[in-house]
Amino acid sequence: TTSPSRQWLSSAQRLSLLLLVLQNSALVMVMHHSRNSPTGSQPRYLTSTAVLVVELVKLSASLLLTTYDTITSHPSSSPSKIAQHLYHSILTPDSWKLIVPAALYTLQNSLVYTAISNLGAVTFQVTYQLKILTTVLFSIILLGRTISVRQWLGLILLTFGVALVQLSPASTPDVAAANSWTEKITSLFTSASQPPAIHHNALKGLAAVVGASLISGLTCVYFEKLLKDSLGSTSSSIWIKNVQLSFFSIFPALFIGVIWYDGANISQNGGFFAGYNAVVWSTICLQALGGLIVAVCIAYADNVVKNFAASLSIVVSYAGTAVVFGERMTLHRAGNYGCSRRGGRNLVVQKSTVDSASRDVAAD
Ligand code: C5P
Repeated sequence: TTSPSRQWLSSAQRLSLLLLVLQNSALVMVMHHSRNSPTGSQPRYLTSTAVLVVELVKLSASLLLTTYDTITSHPSSSPSKIAQHLYHSILTPDSWKLIVPAALYTLQNSLVYTAISNLGAVTFQVTYQLKILTTVLFSIILLGRTISVRQWLGLILLTFGVALVQLSPASTPDVAAANSWTEKITSLFTSASQPPAIHHNALKGLAAVVGASLISGLTCVYFEKLLKDSLGSTSSSIWIKNVQLSFFSIFPALFIGVIWYDGANISQNGGFFAGYNAVVWSTICLQALGGLIVAVCIAYADNVVKNFAASLSIVVSYAGTAVVFGERMTLHRAGNYGCSRRGGRNLVVQKSTVDSASRDVAAD
C-alpha cells in the first residue's frame, strides 16, 4: 500500500516532470528567438545581464516561498520571530557548500546563451541531451550508482544520435534563416519577414553546448547529493537551498559577467537593459521558472529522470510547432532540420545549416 505522503510525492514528481517538459519546450524556442530575431536599430541585449536578472528573479521567488513555508510551519510566531527563523535557516554553517554549484550553474547558463546564439534551436536541443550522458557518468563516479547493460546501450544510442546531428552535411549559409521554427515565431512579432542579419559560429556554439552539458552533469549530481544528504527532500529545504544557490550565483554573474566581461559593452550599448523587450523578459521568466522546476525535480525525482523529461521536450516542441503553425512533421532527418510550410498544410523538411565550418563570425 502507498502512504498518503508517498502518493503526494509521486504526484509532485509527475507534476514537476510535466512542467519541466513544457517549460523546456517553450524556453528553447523563445530564447532562440530572443537571440536570433532582427533587432532593427536596437542593440541586441547582453546575455550577461540576462543571466544576472534570472538569478535575481529566482532569489526573490525562492525567498517568498521560504517565507511562506516558515510562516505556515510557525503560524503563531511574530514577524520578528519569523525573520529570525528565516535568518537562521538560510545562513547555516554549511551554506558555503553552495558556492561551487552556484558558480558552475552561472557558467552553464552563460554557455547556454552562447550555444543558442550560434546554433539552430533543434541542433542545440538535441546536442544538449549529452547532459544525460554526463549526468549518468557523474552519478556513477560521485554517487556510486550502477546502471544496467540496457541503460548503457541507451546512452550509446544517444551519443550516436547527437554525433549524427553534428555530422549531417549543411547547405544553406545561415542558421537562423534555415530554422523556420523561430522564423515562424518571429513573424508573430514582426510585420515584414526580413532575413536576420546575425552571423553564427557553429564551432563556438558546439563547444559551448558540450561545455554546458559537462557542467550540467557535474553540478546537478553534486547538488542532488547536497540536497539529499544534508536536509532530505522537504519542500522547505529545496527553497532554502535555492535562496543560497541564487545568492551565491549573483556574485559571479555580476562581477565576472556583467562588470568584468561586459562592463564596456554595457556603457557603449545604452545601459544594462538595452535591447530588452517582451521576448527577452519572457526568456528570463521562463528560465527562472525552469530553475525552480529543476530544483523540485532533483529533490523529488532524480537527475537522470529529470534529464529524460527534458529530452521529451524535443518531441513536444515539434508537436507544439505543428499545432501552432498548422504543420505536419515527417520523421525524415528531423534531428538537424528546421521545418517549413510549402503549399498549404504540407510540411517540407529543409536542411539546417548549423555545422557549416565556413561561419566563423562570432554571434556572441
Ligand atoms: O539543464 P540543467 O537541468 O542542468 O539546468 C539546470 C538549470 O537549473 C540551471 O539554469 C540552474 O541555474 C537551474 N537550477 C536552479 N536551482 C537548482 C538547480 C538548478 O535554478 N536548485
